[in-house]
Amino acid sequence: MRRKIIAGNWKMNKSVEESAALATDIVAAAKKAGDLQAEIVICPTFLALDRVAQIVKGSPVQLGAQDVHFEAQGAFTGKVSTDMLKAIGVTYVILGHSEQRTFFGETDELVRKKIGKVLAEGLKPIICVGETLVEREAQKTESVVKSQVTAAYAGLTAEQAQTTVIAYEPVWAIGTGLTASDEQAQEVHAFIRGLLTAQYSANVANTIRIQYGGSMKPDNARGLMAQNDVDGGLIGGAALKADSFLAIVTAA
Ligand code: PGA
Repeated sequence: MRRKIIAGNWKMNKSVEESAALATDIVAAAKKAGDLQAEIVICPTFLALDRVAQIVKGSPVQLGAQDVHFEAQGAFTGKVSTDMLKAIGVTYVILGHSEQRTFFGETDELVRKKIGKVLAEGLKPIICVGETLVEREAQKTESVVKSQVTAAYAGLTAEQAQTTVIAYEPVWAIGTGLTASDEQAQEVHAFIRGLLTAQYSANVANTIRIQYGGSMKPDNARGLMAQNDVDGGLIGGAALKADSFLAIVTAA
């Protein structure tokens, strides 16, 4: 049985103070909810990670970063290392987000290098894949997702693969209010699990969690997560308010 995982991707939103306030509300709500089945992760801006780390300490809420560099240290202006993240208690790192791929030229090769570094350092990558609207309309969803997944897992052992989380995020659904239907999501999630089965085994593939991302909200979360291969959500907009985020956690 895969434990569902709900991760809030706060993107470039919220100051340090605002992040601390939101984290405080989420931790309080998670504690009040008591025995939550789902794993909860929040991913604030780098600037707020240290502060938010103090707030989530000892709570069921885990901390994630939105990116990392693949080198250990040195002359990489503007970048953050895995050691820096580990030192403040980060567990997860979002990699290959479509906004990184589209706006900042992140390639499959770069994503692969970052995944290698993150795994080598004992952190857990949330690996984002997904097709654009043009690609979906041209019936290229499977080929696009296949090439992203294949590149991401190239050379990873089964043991390493089992520490990863995949986020299937159709680019046309991110921040647009459009959501993949339950069936569209399930179809691609099952396809991804098939790729992992082919590379590893059904046993290994069955332990890897595949989140859905792209306008997941309290009112569509339940249907999406009821699908066999949808193991949680990577949430943008709806993660910026404690009540909507927690409603999705509860749905999980
Ligand atoms: P959204 O973002 O929920 O606002 O669509 C999801 C994501 O980009 O991770």
